[in-house]
Amino acid sequence: MGSNDNPDFTKGFPVDDLQNGRMIQGKVGDDDVILARHADEFFAVGAGCTHYHAPLAEGLLVGDELRCPLHHACFSLRTGMARCAPAFDAIARWRVEQIGDRVFVREKLPALAQYPEANTKQPARPPSSVVIVGGGAAGLAASAQRL
Ligand code: FES
Repeated sequence: MGSNDNPDFTKGFPVDDLQNGRMIQGKVGDDDVILARHADEFFAVGAGCTHYHAPLAEGLLVGDELRCPLHHACFSLRTGMARCAPAFDAIARWRVEQIGDRVFVREKLPALAQYPEANTKQPARPPSSVVIVGGGAAGLAASAQRL
């Protein structure tokens, strides 16, 4: 097992070494992964922001949300989905197993659809066209919502 500075989560991480509201970066194979604890649940997600790849371990853990240190995108620990811009793509997730006093991270989970509600809820009369003014982050976010 690696040191606590870069632990190999496939070999287990001591439950007592990660308190609620804390996170630690480690490895699962070649992937950099964050192990986070919230309300006595453990989550394992990708360590790089999907916007400009900032190290999420240097960000904030607020409830079940991970916030990027650079431009403050927010990601759900449960789903990996981006909850706030400027990131649009989800971060990867891994299955977490607690066995005795250790937490193991081994299996990468399939990605979820990024905007499941936007993809399934259609307005009664969808607009025939939409004009988005501006090509910045807000314009990109509006187009990603599939109005
Ligand atoms: S790098 Fe994370 S929000 Fe920009």
